Amino acid sequence: MEVITKIDEMRTRVLSVKDRKRSIGFVPTMGALHNGHLSLMRRAREENDELVVSIYLNPTQFDKNDDFENYPRQLDKDIEIIRNENADAVFTPCTEEMYPDGFCTHVTQDKLTDALCGRVRPGHFNGVTTIVTKLFNIIEPDRAYFGQKDYQQCAVIKRLVTDMNMDVDIQVCPTVREEDGLAFSSRNKRLNPEERQNALCIYGSLLKAGDMFASDIRETKEIIEEMISIIKKTKHTKIDYISIVNANTLEDLSSINGKALVAVAIWIGNTRLIDNIILE
Ligand code: PAJ
Repeated sequence: MEVITKIDEMRTRVLSVKDRKRSIGFVPTMGALHNGHLSLMRRAREENDELVVSIYLNPTQFDKNDDFENYPRQLDKDIEIIRNENADAVFTPCTEEMYPDGFCTHVTQDKLTDALCGRVRPGHFNGVTTIVTKLFNIIEPDRAYFGQKDYQQCAVIKRLVTDMNMDVDIQVCPTVREEDGLAFSSRNKRLNPEERQNALCIYGSLLKAGDMFASDIRETKEIIEEMISIIKKTKHTKIDYISIVNANTLEDLSSINGKALVAVAIWIGNTRLIDNIILE
């Protein structure tokens, strides 16, 4: 496996792969890898001739400096994990490489970024759309793999690719959870044992929404109130948002009558975690 830090070197490799008519599967990450990332790599490995993984902790998508500072970093360990997944290349550029002096072009998106995390994390999705555009331009993947855990990110990227006529097939992979239901997240590494236990209220509240939907309750207000009460019963939590939206437009729903996304963002102590389920 090649470990590449320079854009030029990455491009040279991509050119030679394309010359040999081999398909590229790409998994972009910010490192601190866990089983969720592994599931994307395994899908990409299966479906493509070449697997390229990127590790880049993209500063422009962090709306809070302390979140960026405290984000777990374990580059050497991550490279070993990727090697074990039989990847062909890992791309780990530094920030001078990705945002050199004079950088002043950004990719922005309306509408889908006005909802959910976009509403509470100003600038976050512009950082994501900009870095993903750059990575796609450098790596030129045939397919790129994203996790449903970041449902809004998937929706934004699918729209980005459509609107900007990018020739990349976006594959969305299911959320991978720990045995007790907590979705894997790099930020889970920040939770102390008590917080780790408290974090179970997140999936608990989503399961409750699923149960209510299964018992034919369709009014979102009623479902959200129950979810709020589950979170509020758990110590050291704060709700950032609990929303039930149209799964395509991400617009708030008052009643569920098609494919709906139940999405939550909850603070567990100083760590903000997101999760979601689809109801249909
Ligand atoms: P990161 O948070 O490292 O996530 C990389 C990919 O792993 C994303 O597509 C994310 O949805 C997926 N993922 C995270 N947790 C998952 C889980 N429990 N199950 C399945 N997939 C999971 O998302 C980013 O990085 C960045 O925004 C990035 C796209 C790399 C741009 O900087």
